[in-house]
Amino acid sequence: MTSPLTRMIESAFDQARPINAQLELTYKCNLLCSFCYNSPKDRHELDGEQWLATLDKLKGAGTFTVTLTGGEPFVHRDFFRICQGVRERGMVLKTYTNGVLLTDRQRAERYADFGPFDTEISIHGADAATHDRLTGVRGSFDKLLEALEVLSSLGVKVTLKTPITRLNQTQLPAIEELGERFGYHVTFDTNIVPADDGDLGPLTMAPDKTFLVRFFVDQVRRGRRGLRPRPVEKMKQNCGVGRTAITIDPYGDIFPCVAWRRPIANILEVEDLNALWQGRAGTNQTLDYVRKVAEEVPRTTLIHHPEGAFASFCPAAAEKETGDPYAFYEASRVSGLTKLEAFEACQRGGDAAKEEQENEDPLAQSPDKA
Ligand SMILES: C[S@@+](CC[C@H](N)C(=O)[O-])C[C@H]1O[C@@H](n2cnc3c(N)ncnc32)[C@H](O)[C@@H]1O
Ligand code: SF4
Repeated sequence: MTSPLTRMIESAFDQARPINAQLELTYKCNLLCSFCYNSPKDRHELDGEQWLATLDKLKGAGTFTVTLTGGEPFVHRDFFRICQGVRERGMVLKTYTNGVLLTDRQRAERYADFGPFDTEISIHGADAATHDRLTGVRGSFDKLLEALEVLSSLGVKVTLKTPITRLNQTQLPAIEELGERFGYHVTFDTNIVPADDGDLGPLTMAPDKTFLVRFFVDQVRRGRRGLRPRPVEKMKQNCGVGRTAITIDPYGDIFPCVAWRRPIANILEVEDLNALWQGRAGTNQTLDYVRKVAEEVPRTTLIHHPEGAFASFCPAAAEKETGDPYAFYEASRVSGLTKLEAFEACQRGGDAAKEEQENEDPLAQSPDKA
């Protein structure tokens, strides 16, 4: 039987309602992660008033969950006004943060008062040497631990999040142990993505293939995730790009998801976001195009590769890596092959293959970007 939440998500998909918004409040950041996908430009960033007006437009278009991200969202001078704006409009508040500014108890208390549904905090290593090397700032690991102390004492729900890189791939069990110390769950992201401006530099940090196969097998054996081929021939779409997902950058440019940086319009120039999203404001070629690609990719691309049913495929990453959003790009092929190999190893070992979470979650903006 389908749950009410699944039905709600399916209907949002069918009606193209942007229920899941990621707002990149600012590109300013207090860390310097070498693999960061952000590509700031020299433009004016939206202020608090402009973000509040944006929240009204999102509400009118049916947005349900607002994730504040960046850059580092806590660096935005009107961060708390924006949090308040989200809650006053009855929307669910989530934040992606590096945690550094949450060492300050007063600030953390103020944040906790908004009742965030989840706070995803990035952790890049189990020790200061690794974490600080990846963030480019000495002392950032100690600050993160301090922030976790404060947040756990305030009862704030936190999910720790580690993008797996070559530098931290041997430390995952230790990162999990560290999370357990604070009572926090750790999620691992196996996909390092190119930068927003198309620079492929971050991909050099990706974990190696032998490691990934072992990682997936281990996750299945410990009941952390399932591995099962996606029913490619029956899939309605690859992901929620341009339908349930929407991203707005610090300059107000609207994107069909956090990964695909094809601008749809600028929020400051859009009177009625709902009309734009529903096509009543006239045809938007970008929206039409990305929706078409997402619908076609399972049959134009994934179905033609034995590992396609296991691949994390992101048309935006395909376009950045090859110039063609339909191309079965290298990182997708590696994700498919390593999961396929892990799946076969688990079957030989008699492990049950559960449904894979990411394949079930139409709220996910993209399989390839946090
Ligand atoms: C851009 S950051 C913004 C929020 C906050 N500053 C932070 O680091 O958590 C959002 C998430 O993307 C991750 N990230 C950044 N660059 C990435 C890349 N090239 N590939 C995969 N994840 C990346 C970060 O580690 C973080 O978990
Ligand atoms: S990943 Fe987050 S913390 Fe790191 S540089 Fe990018 S925005 Fe800053």
